[in-house]
Amino acid sequence: MDVRVLADLEALGNAAAEHLVAQVERKPDAVIGLATGSSPVVAYREWGGLARRREISLDRVRGFALDEYIGLDPEDPRSYHAVIRDDAVNVVGLDPERVRVPFARTVAEAAETGAEYERAIAAAGGIDLQILGIGRNGHLAFNEPGSAVDSRTRAVELTPETREDNARFFESADQVPTHAITQGIGTILEARALLMIATGAAKAAAVAAAIEGPETEALPASFLRRHADVIWLLDEAAASRL
Ligand code: GLP
Repeated sequence: MDVRVLADLEALGNAAAEHLVAQVERKPDAVIGLATGSSPVVAYREWGGLARRREISLDRVRGFALDEYIGLDPEDPRSYHAVIRDDAVNVVGLDPERVRVPFARTVAEAAETGAEYERAIAAAGGIDLQILGIGRNGHLAFNEPGSAVDSRTRAVELTPETREDNARFFESADQVPTHAITQGIGTILEARALLMIATGAAKAAAVAAAIEGPETEALPASFLRRHADVIWLLDEAAASRL
């Protein structure tokens, strides 16, 4: 595992951007796994800028998002459809027609749309580089503690802690949807390379447990150790418990 501690957010964004641009240079129609959350925002900002400076076209890049709430309209600004559009696609300068976000209107519908999402990823040739963030409880995408290492795209129930963490985007925690559709741990581990970005002291315990603690369903990010090509980009606060 390659763990890098960067001095500040700009350095972290630059390191992520170098990695993303190198991937597109190698493969102009690279399939990139996109994550939501505040952590990857610096990466999206620097990625588009660096590609433009190096005159590397992102026109053929394809994207698959990790997850989405169940019960929010894709037009709702708090939906991950909106977040991926506003924070990733528009900031980086990706073609929105080539980016997909999982969707299910109901938990029941997720069995079908989750399987269809998996087929779409496979049809694209699989994910070349997956961007990831980590939850305070060690979740990956919306794979909460207890998620199996071979789990696939499916409906999940969110923990009170995750709903609390994401309440800042809603009027209150009880307005945060109770369920989500998420790529599984098994889906994520099939990406050819993983780029984890974690910042801030609130993530320090989860980062340390994922990198140094036992591999366990209780902390889904600990399963990243099974992957041969994973880079952790951390700021000093997120790395402070290592
Ligand atoms: C949400 C997302 C995760 C993300 C996590 C951390 O729960 N589903 O994919 O990693 O938030 O977000 P942030 O980077 O804002 O702390």
